[in-house]
Amino acid sequence: MITVTVNGASHQVDVTEDMPLLWVIRDVIGLSGTKFGCGIAQCGACTVHVSGKPVRSCLYPIGQVGAQPVTTIEAIGQTPTGAKVQQAWLASEVVQCGYCQSGQIMSATALLDVTPSPTDAEIDQAMSGNICRCGTYVRIREAIHQAAEAGAAVGQPG
Ligand code: FES
Ligand code: FES
Repeated sequence: MITVTVNGASHQVDVTEDMPLLWVIRDVIGLSGTKFGCGIAQCGACTVHVSGKPVRSCLYPIGQVGAQPVTTIEAIGQTPTGAKVQQAWLASEVVQCGYCQSGQIMSATALLDVTPSPTDAEIDQAMSGNICRCGTYVRIREAIHQAAEAGAAVGQPG
Protein backbone atom coordinates (compact mmCIF):
# COMPACT_ATOMS: atom_id res chain seq x y z
CA MET A 1 0.00 0.00 0.00
CA ILE A 2 1.13 3.51 -0.77
CA THR A 3 -0.29 6.55 0.99
CA VAL A 4 -0.76 9.66 -1.13
CA THR A 5 -2.35 13.00 -0.26
CA VAL A 6 -4.44 14.44 -3.08
CA ASN A 7 -6.32 17.71 -2.65
CA GLY A 8 -5.91 17.49 1.12
CA ALA A 9 -7.31 13.97 1.42
CA SER A 10 -5.15 10.97 2.28
CA HIS A 11 -5.58 7.87 0.12
CA GLN A 12 -4.15 4.40 0.58
CA VAL A 13 -3.65 2.89 -2.84
CA ASP A 14 -2.73 -0.68 -3.65
CA VAL A 15 -0.42 -0.03 -6.60
CA THR A 16 3.21 -0.55 -7.53
CA GLU A 17 5.73 2.25 -6.95
CA ASP A 18 6.32 2.69 -10.67
CA MET A 19 2.68 3.33 -11.56
CA PRO A 20 2.36 6.84 -13.04
CA LEU A 21 0.69 9.33 -10.72
CA LEU A 22 -1.86 10.05 -13.48
CA TRP A 23 -3.12 6.46 -13.36
CA VAL A 24 -3.52 6.67 -9.59
CA ILE A 25 -5.36 9.98 -9.78
CA ARG A 26 -7.76 8.94 -12.54
CA ASP A 27 -8.21 5.19 -12.26
CA VAL A 28 -7.68 4.48 -8.56
CA ILE A 29 -8.84 7.66 -6.83
CA GLY A 30 -11.36 8.54 -9.54
CA LEU A 31 -10.55 12.18 -10.22
CA SER A 32 -11.04 12.53 -13.98
CA GLY A 33 -10.31 16.24 -14.42
CA THR A 34 -6.65 15.53 -15.14
CA LYS A 35 -6.34 14.30 -18.72
CA PHE A 36 -4.25 11.76 -20.57
CA GLY A 37 -2.84 13.12 -23.81
CA CYS A 38 0.47 11.78 -25.05
CA GLY A 39 1.74 9.73 -22.13
CA ILE A 40 5.32 10.84 -22.85
CA ALA A 41 5.53 14.25 -21.11
CA GLN A 42 5.10 16.19 -24.35
CA CYS A 43 1.59 17.70 -24.22
CA GLY A 44 0.94 18.88 -20.66
CA ALA A 45 -2.64 17.57 -20.47
CA CYS A 46 -1.76 15.57 -17.35
CA THR A 47 -0.21 18.47 -15.40
CA VAL A 48 -0.80 18.46 -11.65
CA HIS A 49 1.06 20.09 -8.77
CA VAL A 50 3.33 18.13 -6.45
CA SER A 51 4.32 20.36 -3.54
CA GLY A 52 3.01 23.30 -5.55
CA LYS A 53 5.21 22.63 -8.57
CA PRO A 54 3.83 21.53 -11.93
CA VAL A 55 4.69 17.97 -12.95
CA ARG A 56 3.70 15.75 -15.85
CA SER A 57 1.83 13.07 -13.98
CA CYS A 58 1.89 10.64 -16.92
CA LEU A 59 5.58 9.99 -16.28
CA TYR A 60 5.80 10.73 -12.55
CA PRO A 61 5.93 7.46 -10.58
CA ILE A 62 3.66 7.34 -7.54
CA GLY A 63 6.64 6.07 -5.56
CA GLN A 64 8.36 9.45 -5.99
CA VAL A 65 5.51 11.43 -4.46
CA GLY A 66 6.08 10.34 -0.88
CA ALA A 67 4.62 12.79 1.63
CA GLN A 68 4.43 15.66 -0.87
CA PRO A 69 0.91 17.02 -1.35
CA VAL A 70 -0.66 16.59 -4.78
CA THR A 71 -3.12 19.17 -6.12
CA THR A 72 -5.29 18.56 -9.16
CA ILE A 73 -7.64 20.69 -11.21
CA GLU A 74 -10.51 19.66 -8.94
CA ALA A 75 -9.01 21.67 -6.05
CA ILE A 76 -6.93 24.38 -7.69
CA GLY A 77 -9.83 26.84 -7.41
CA GLN A 78 -9.51 26.63 -3.63
CA THR A 79 -6.09 28.30 -3.76
CA PRO A 80 -5.97 32.12 -4.09
CA THR A 81 -4.00 32.01 -7.35
CA GLY A 82 -5.99 29.14 -8.80
CA ALA A 83 -9.26 30.94 -8.13
CA LYS A 84 -8.03 34.05 -9.98
CA VAL A 85 -6.81 31.96 -12.89
CA GLN A 86 -10.13 30.15 -13.22
CA GLN A 87 -12.06 33.44 -13.05
CA ALA A 88 -9.83 34.95 -15.74
CA TRP A 89 -10.28 31.81 -17.88
CA LEU A 90 -14.05 32.25 -17.72
CA ALA A 91 -13.90 36.00 -18.37
CA SER A 92 -11.63 35.51 -21.39
CA GLU A 93 -13.66 32.54 -22.66
CA VAL A 94 -10.42 30.65 -23.19
CA VAL A 95 -11.82 27.17 -23.58
CA GLN A 96 -12.70 25.53 -26.86
CA CYS A 97 -12.93 21.71 -26.69
CA GLY A 98 -11.49 21.91 -23.19
CA TYR A 99 -9.32 18.81 -23.33
CA CYS A 100 -6.01 20.55 -22.64
CA GLN A 101 -7.38 23.17 -20.29
CA SER A 102 -7.01 21.54 -16.91
CA GLY A 103 -3.31 21.16 -17.64
CA GLN A 104 -3.13 24.73 -18.93
CA ILE A 105 -4.72 26.08 -15.75
CA MET A 106 -2.36 24.06 -13.55
CA SER A 107 0.69 25.40 -15.43
CA ALA A 108 -0.64 28.98 -15.40
CA THR A 109 -1.29 28.83 -11.66
CA ALA A 110 2.19 27.49 -10.97
CA LEU A 111 3.66 30.29 -13.09
CA LEU A 112 1.77 33.04 -11.25
CA ASP A 113 2.69 31.57 -7.88
CA VAL A 114 6.37 32.22 -8.60
CA THR A 115 6.07 35.11 -11.09
CA PRO A 116 3.07 37.26 -10.13
CA SER A 117 3.39 39.63 -13.13
CA PRO A 118 4.88 37.65 -15.99
CA THR A 119 5.90 39.14 -19.31
CA ASP A 120 4.65 37.65 -22.58
CA ALA A 121 7.99 35.90 -22.94
CA GLU A 122 7.77 34.43 -19.45
CA ILE A 123 4.24 33.24 -20.15
CA ASP A 124 5.27 31.66 -23.45
CA GLN A 125 8.20 29.93 -21.81
CA ALA A 126 6.20 28.63 -18.83
CA MET A 127 3.33 27.45 -21.02
CA SER A 128 5.42 26.02 -23.86
CA GLY A 129 4.96 22.44 -22.62
CA ASN A 130 1.16 22.66 -22.77
CA ILE A 131 -0.14 21.90 -26.23
CA CYS A 132 -3.60 23.03 -27.37
CA ARG A 133 -4.96 21.46 -30.54
CA CYS A 134 -7.64 24.13 -30.66
CA GLY A 135 -5.06 26.93 -30.67
CA THR A 136 -6.28 28.92 -27.66
CA TYR A 137 -2.80 30.29 -26.95
CA VAL A 138 -3.65 33.97 -27.44
CA ARG A 139 -6.59 33.81 -25.05
CA ILE A 140 -4.52 31.81 -22.54
CA ARG A 141 -1.95 34.58 -22.52
CA GLU A 142 -4.65 37.22 -22.09
CA ALA A 143 -6.21 35.32 -19.20
CA ILE A 144 -2.86 34.96 -17.44
CA HIS A 145 -2.31 38.73 -17.68
CA GLN A 146 -5.83 39.28 -16.38
CA ALA A 147 -5.26 36.93 -13.43
CA ALA A 148 -1.98 38.71 -12.68
CA GLU A 149 -3.76 42.06 -12.63
CA ALA A 150 -6.46 40.64 -10.35
CA GLY A 151 -3.71 39.50 -7.98
CA ALA A 152 -2.11 42.95 -7.96
CA ALA A 153 -5.46 44.64 -7.37
CA VAL A 154 -5.98 42.85 -4.06
CA GLY A 155 -2.33 43.07 -3.08
CA GLN A 156 -1.64 39.35 -3.31
CA PRO A 157 0.90 37.62 -5.47
CA GLY A 158 -0.62 35.87 -8.43
S1 FES B 1 -0.19 13.09 -21.09
FE1 FES B 1 1.41 13.76 -19.81
S2 FES B 1 2.41 15.28 -20.96
FE2 FES B 1 0.96 14.42 -22.35
S1 FES C 1 -9.07 23.71 -25.98
FE1 FES C 1 -9.09 21.99 -27.28
S2 FES C 1 -7.09 21.17 -27.09
FE2 FES C 1 -7.01 23.03 -26.02
